[in-house]
Order: sequence, then C-alpha cells, then structure tokens
Amino acid sequence: MDRQIVTIDGPAGAGKSTVAKRLAQELGCIYVDTGALYRGVAYEILQHSIDWENEHDLKVFLSQLDLNFVMENQQLILTSHGKDISGKIRTPQVTMLASSSSAKPAVRKALLSIQKNIAENNDAVFEGRDMGTVVFPKAPFKFFLFADLNIRAKRRYDEMCGDKKDIHQVKEQMAQRDENDSQRQSAPLKPADDAVKIDSSSLTINQVVDMMIKIIRAA
Ligand code: DC
Repeated sequence: MDRQIVTIDGPAGAGKSTVAKRLAQELGCIYVDTGALYRGVAYEILQHSIDWENEHDLKVFLSQLDLNFVMENQQLILTSHGKDISGKIRTPQVTMLASSSSAKPAVRKALLSIQKNIAENNDAVFEGRDMGTVVFPKAPFKFFLFADLNIRAKRRYDEMCGDKKDIHQVKEQMAQRDENDSQRQSAPLKPADDAVKIDSSSLTINQVVDMMIKIIRAA
C-alpha cells in the first residue's frame, strides 16, 4: 500500500520542526524528526568517546548502534538500547557533532533503514536535510523551507531564553552548521528538483502550514 509521505527539508531555524508537527496533526499522520537520529549518533559517540573520524572505530561503533523511534502518547521518542535519550540530544555539543559526524556516509547508511521502515508502516511527515533528495525521492509532496540567516538565528536565540549564549554565537554556529550540512559530499542539504521552496523569513508558522495544506489538498 502506498503511504502518504510528506518531506520537509531545510536549514536549522527555518521552522521545519514546528511546521512539520502542525502539518502532521492536520493530516492525521505521524511526525518524524530525522535530525534526532543524527543527534542520537552524536550523543552515543560522546558517551563512549568514539574516535569517529577513524573509519575502523566508526564502523565498529555503528555495528553496535541500537537507535529506535518508539511511539509514546502519539509522539515518537528516540531510544538507544531501549533507553529514552530524547531529553539528552539537544545540547550544543551534540548539535555541532551531529552536524559534522552526519557527513560520514557510513553514519547516513546506518540510519537509512530506520527511516524507510517507518515510512513502510505509517503515513508521515518527515523532516530533515535529505528527505526529498535521498531518503524519499519518490515522495508525492516535498517542501524545502528556508529563511534568512539573521532571522533564523534570532528565532533560535528566542527559543533558548534563559540560556547564556549571545545571539552572535548562535548565528556563528548556525552558519557553521549550514556550511557543514550543505557542503558535504554525502546527501548534502539542498532542495529536491521537484520540491516546493518556501521562504519563511516573513511568514508565520500558520501561514506556512496553510500553504502546504493547500498544495497537498489540491493534488
Ligand atoms: O534537524 P537537526 O538540527 O536536529 O539536525 C541535526 C544535524 O543532523 C544537522 O545539522 C545535520 C544532520 N541531519 C542530517 O544530516 N540529515 C537529516 N536528514 C537530518 C539531520
């Protein structure tokens, strides 16, 4: 049976997660944050002090990786060897390492089947960097959400209220991630040729979701 798959790719801070969650609610399907998987890899690398730039060590590490998404209260939570690690993968250190280690083809390959298995059994909105280009090239609905770097940095800064970082630091790290994610050889961040590109710089979340819903329902 063909599943309804919607893909949303784009850089950090473009509003992907919020939009993808709301869109999934509207469509009555699940929302999958694929960045969580790359963050899970980074978290485990840090936990076990893995020399991930060493191909052999990375291979052994990946052969023992046991990341899964588990449904809890209508939401997918990320587990590693059965333990919920969702609350541990949003630190700045994990964020930056997820960006650099995700450039490794072996890492990407290890996470592919998890993503494909979910799509076989569920209608879903998948959010990430290579959803429309590599993981689900045949998805019927593909979106690429982007926004001006200054605006994305401001949004992220506002989300982190109470955190000690300054906005320049947030912007610098975001620019670094943009560069890592879009310049890598393997599955770089870029819009699929057939993706609808949406600049969210001056749009609200609701406006973006409405645009997507219209496109999906008109098909
Ligand atoms: O979406 P996010 O910010 O949680 O993702 C963290 C990192 O994971 C991001 O900088 C690049 C990587 N990533 C990826 O390479 N491919 C994806 N489909 C999702 C995330």
